[in-house]
Amino acid sequence: MIYYFSGTGNSYQVAKLLAYLTQDKMQDISTLKDYKHDDSVMGFVFPVHCYDVLDLMQDFIKKLEIKSDKKIYCYAVVTCGGKVGNSFITMQDLLKAKNIDLAYRNEVYLPDNILSFWGKKYDYSSLNTYKDKVLQIAEELNQRKTNNNVLVKKSWWYVIKKYFSWLFIKKCLQKKTVKKNCIHCKRCVKLCPTNNIIEEAGKIKFKSNNNCIYCLACIQWCPMQAINFGSYNLKDKQYHHPEVVENELFKRW
Ligand SMILES: Cc1cc2nc3c(=O)[nH]c(=O)nc-3n(C[C@H](O)[C@H](O)[C@H](O)COP(=O)(O)O)c2cc1C
Ligand code: SF4
Ligand code: SF4
Repeated sequence: MIYYFSGTGNSYQVAKLLAYLTQDKMQDISTLKDYKHDDSVMGFVFPVHCYDVLDLMQDFIKKLEIKSDKKIYCYAVVTCGGKVGNSFITMQDLLKAKNIDLAYRNEVYLPDNILSFWGKKYDYSSLNTYKDKVLQIAEELNQRKTNNNVLVKKSWWYVIKKYFSWLFIKKCLQKKTVKKNCIHCKRCVKLCPTNNIIEEAGKIKFKSNNNCIYCLACIQWCPMQAINFGSYNLKDKQYHHPEVVENELFKRW
């Protein structure tokens, strides 16, 4: 089973290809009700957020109940714009607490979906090369390759960078507004993994007890570019993986 999370489709696309190439099933962790794992393969595919594993994935792993008696082959594949940070050491620690070895880990570079907030243009070049990397990873997974002999050490530099990045993101992107050109298509409502967006009295609203995880799905998929995140907004056009359509990521309905 491949457990995945994706905001703008990069990780979904990688999980989909890996599921096909390794003949496995995949499951979106934000829609899971059952936290029992009874398979001999356990894969995780998700985006790097602020040099680490996003909290939603961390909480999911903590809740996961292992029901299998067989030895589990466990792997993690992250997607990111270029900096994995402490993601693998965090995964290693979370899984060790469940008596599972992270046997294999790898990263796939894809466009950095948050770049546009910082006034930079997306770099699309990885879209031409990522499939080769996914093919290589699938081949290694099918051979049950391990690469956990190279110890991953926690970097305090990335711990500090994570802290300041989140501080900045929460301060600058916390306030969200919906502009008048919204056409009430409810795409954002269906995409939000934390049910943070609701329709109330004919209006699309962000909940006041903001439980946003900054996956960027709502702002990047809105067909009208009607969503604003604080005073920092997308400086470039929206980004989502070009081979994914939004209803593949709908969390509800
Ligand atoms: C809040 C946030 C933090 C991010 N932090 C990092 C990071 O630390 N390193 C990196 O290389 N990319 C970072 N990214 C970029 C994403 O990891 C990358 O675009 C990923 O492929 C998106 O996957 P998705 O489309 O499945 O959501 C960040 C993106 C977001 C939204
Ligand atoms: S996705 Fe955009 S247009 Fe559609 S309901 Fe949400 S804000 Fe409105
Ligand atoms: S409100 Fe936050 S968690 Fe929900 S889709 Fe938008 S960015 Fe993601």
